[in-house]
Amino acid sequence: MNIKHWKKSWRDYTPSSLNWLEKVKITKATVFDRNSAYIACITKDKNNKDNWQLQVSGLSAEFCQKATDQAKKLGWKAKSPITLLVDETPVILVSPSALDVSTSQKGRQAGLDAAPFIKQLACEKVGICSNSELTSLDILDGLTQGLYSLTTFKGPKKDNDKDEQYPASISLFETSLQEEDIARSLAFAKALMLTKWLEDAPPNWLTPERFGQIAQDLSAERGLKCKVRGREEIEAMGMGCFASVAGGTKLDPKFIMIEVDGEDNNQTIALVGKGLTFDSGGISIKGSQGMEEMKYDMCGGASVLGTAYFLSYFRPKTKVVCMIGAVENMPGENATRPSDIVTAYNKKTVEILNTDAEGRLVLCDLLAYAADDLKPALIVDIATLTGAVVIALGSFGSAIMSNQQPVAEFVLNVSRKIGEPVWQMPLWPELSKEMQSDIADLKNIAAPNVKGGSIAAGQFLREFVGDCKWVHVDIAGTGWNCKATGYPCSGGSGFGVRLLSQICLQFNS
Ligand code: BES
Ligand code: ZN
Ligand code: ZN
Repeated sequence: MNIKHWKKSWRDYTPSSLNWLEKVKITKATVFDRNSAYIACITKDKNNKDNWQLQVSGLSAEFCQKATDQAKKLGWKAKSPITLLVDETPVILVSPSALDVSTSQKGRQAGLDAAPFIKQLACEKVGICSNSELTSLDILDGLTQGLYSLTTFKGPKKDNDKDEQYPASISLFETSLQEEDIARSLAFAKALMLTKWLEDAPPNWLTPERFGQIAQDLSAERGLKCKVRGREEIEAMGMGCFASVAGGTKLDPKFIMIEVDGEDNNQTIALVGKGLTFDSGGISIKGSQGMEEMKYDMCGGASVLGTAYFLSYFRPKTKVVCMIGAVENMPGENATRPSDIVTAYNKKTVEILNTDAEGRLVLCDLLAYAADDLKPALIVDIATLTGAVVIALGSFGSAIMSNQQPVAEFVLNVSRKIGEPVWQMPLWPELSKEMQSDIADLKNIAAPNVKGGSIAAGQFLREFVGDCKWVHVDIAGTGWNCKATGYPCSGGSGFGVRLLSQICLQFNS
């Protein structure tokens, strides 16, 4: 059981890096300040990769030349960053990724690479320089992510433990920067930090109830409407699939719903996130190896909450309804048995043949609720749904599937623009047949000889969205330990916050 040794408020557990973002001053700058430490990215020659220059805004040609001479003298191979002292001013030279990825990802990666060096310098002021390719905002995005650290679950500090140090101010050297762009980046950084923190939190702390409490408190703080329903209401609403996942746990499942008003509330986008605070598999229990990673099975839900938080600062054109199915999947005397049949919100019946395919059971009721009750112009769901997607795409990008090609193209375009990599998978019609049950309407898994598990899951979900435009995002490979350029390589990645936020800001039916 959950021994009640936790501190009273969830705010006692927010990472110091998130508290820092609340107070750091980020401004546009044009004048060099010798008391600052600088992050500057080199530019490599296209034809000769060993040749590089330093030409960035904010640092004079003379300063850049001195830094270049020093780095070359030290035999720097232009790989991992190096800290130099030029006329007593520290400058961190970063070599951007040479991979064929978007420039946003390269910029973010440069910031991520610089972060440990900034930590080590423990300086009060940091200057971020842009160059002809990389923007200061992308580098800032990577830097803030790289400064994330979670120490609030550690025991009391010893006397000689040092407090973490963060810069008090960050100056961005980029002539075309607008104040609003900086404000948006800062709001986004907070949303991403919040998401990553929830992802990394342990499942005996981040229970569905605490997830709901955090959503409610943040909504109140940001002026958003929020409703959290528990087991009784979920059952009474007829969400039999969602309720079945909660059978094995004493913890109350929560259906969290946050509304973000748009400029025009006549049109709605619905976001739906899988929030499994822990997925043991239930009666179809998982093996012990790697089971601890299943605390991350709420990454979809966390990214939906992060998006709601971001949108509270930047009102979208349409209303956005954010829904999270928060629950843990455990074995227990009341747990669902493989072969049980349950009824979903849209009255379709589902034969549960594997209790570990639980994400689709939570999502299907929320999708049906969105489609039937909200009549949205677009539904996007996001979930760590299938192990199969990790086999198919690795951890370098997420899968998307859609029932209407133009919205898939829209999401692909957003993804390219913002550097959150996704790849479309087809909803092969044959796999829809494989999800039909002999004695119920649907079954939650296909027969073992049928492969294409990610698409099969997509076809299952499709049964619940009716004619609504719908995009499904499977982040099982990217939600944590993401290996895409521009993402932290370990822990929760916050994948999806960028994509969902921009989908909401850019969608035009
Ligand atoms: N949460 C898992 C999916 C998952 C697996 C995410 C590995 C990240 C890494 C999901 O609930 C699950 O267990 N899916 C099963 C479905 C199967 C029983 C049809 C899977 O993918 O193995
Ligand atoms: Zn599962
Ligand atoms: Zn799961």
